[in-house]
Amino acid sequence: MIRDLSLRNFRNYESAHLEFRPGLNMILGENAQGKTNLLESLVYLSLTRSFRLNDDTKAIREGQEFADIRCTADQQKLEIILHKKGKTLLVNKVPVKRSSEFIGKLNVVLFTPDDLGIFADAPRERRKMLNQEITKISGTYLAALNHLQNLLKDRNTLLKTVSPDLIYLDTLDQKLCEYSLPVIQERKKFIEQINLTLNDEFHEISGMEEKAEVIYNCCVDEADIPHLAEMLKNSRERDIESRMTNTGIHREDITFMLDGKNVIYHASQGQKRMILLAFKLALLSYVEKETGHQAVLLLDDVLSELDPQRQRRLLKRIERTEQCLITAAEIPPHLDTGRISTYRIHDGKTEVSV
Ligand SMILES: Nc1ncnc2c1ncn2[C@@H]1O[C@H](COP(=O)(O)OP(=O)(O)OP(=O)(O)O)[C@@H](O)[C@H]1O
Ligand SMILES: [Mg+2]
Repeated sequence: MIRDLSLRNFRNYESAHLEFRPGLNMILGENAQGKTNLLESLVYLSLTRSFRLNDDTKAIREGQEFADIRCTADQQKLEIILHKKGKTLLVNKVPVKRSSEFIGKLNVVLFTPDDLGIFADAPRERRKMLNQEITKISGTYLAALNHLQNLLKDRNTLLKTVSPDLIYLDTLDQKLCEYSLPVIQERKKFIEQINLTLNDEFHEISGMEEKAEVIYNCCVDEADIPHLAEMLKNSRERDIESRMTNTGIHREDITFMLDGKNVIYHASQGQKRMILLAFKLALLSYVEKETGHQAVLLLDDVLSELDPQRQRRLLKRIERTEQCLITAAEIPPHLDTGRISTYRIHDGKTEVSV
């Protein structure tokens, strides 16, 4: 749970301090006041990077040298200082060298309207999301992915030579199988876990009848070394001809389905929004099962696009989360404000209005 957040020179915040409570925290403000920036700062504290920037220096307030993001998550103090040459990570005021020592102390699940692009995006983006979610939980997954990246690079370099050394190719293929297996097993497990709750979440927040599920388009029928070896063997001729690796975990994808139909081609905007929100709620259960702690749910600008019935359903559902931060322009008219905390943001300044 996030107890407090302090920002200095982050985006449009010069200096701000907020204290959050368990349950529903509403962050209100007009357009361009700093609502998304605030959620972005929490994503930094979770993943050490932004969900909308590659260049961290853009997050430093214009004209300033560094930005400071600090929070108390449960009993731990987390801090990130962004400066022109990189960033410093601190846990309980002690600098840590590796991001792996920092990531995982605060777990957040974020929904932003930009996420809706995920359905139409190239498979690479869905794999990125998959990797990001599993990496938060599993260190071995990340290690295997890194090995695979290097192995694939070596294999593709070899395939580009005039007559590739087949003995070396055999060695690389053997290693590829070895490291692909845990990745496939984790991906499979992840999708199975998500499907345990996805459909119920979808029904609860949408009131729609369709069956919601995610399908894992795995590169092999059976997740074992012999099947992986077979896959590479069958593809070898084509790989040598095209000078690249055509099959494997780097080509996998996931498909969101409603009643057995791919969401990209058949779902309405509202249905897409609902299945993606249901997926984020299913992620909360997954994180809780794997870590024993519920992640903090961050919902950016989700209400404005929903009809009143779906707004009510979603708000009722998120009442059961341990902590949820949700941004909006105004408090929805039918919301019982007795049990929520509200904050108003104006021009990078905060005021608690309870
Ligand atoms: N590095 C920076 N320095 C100063 N200001 C910045 C910086 N980066 C972004 N901003 C400003 O922060 C402002 C608020 O951005 P933010 O995306 O948080 O708005 P918002 O409240 O979420 O608005 P909306 O409701 O339109 O989504 C923008 O107007 C932007 O110009
Ligand atoms: Mg915004």
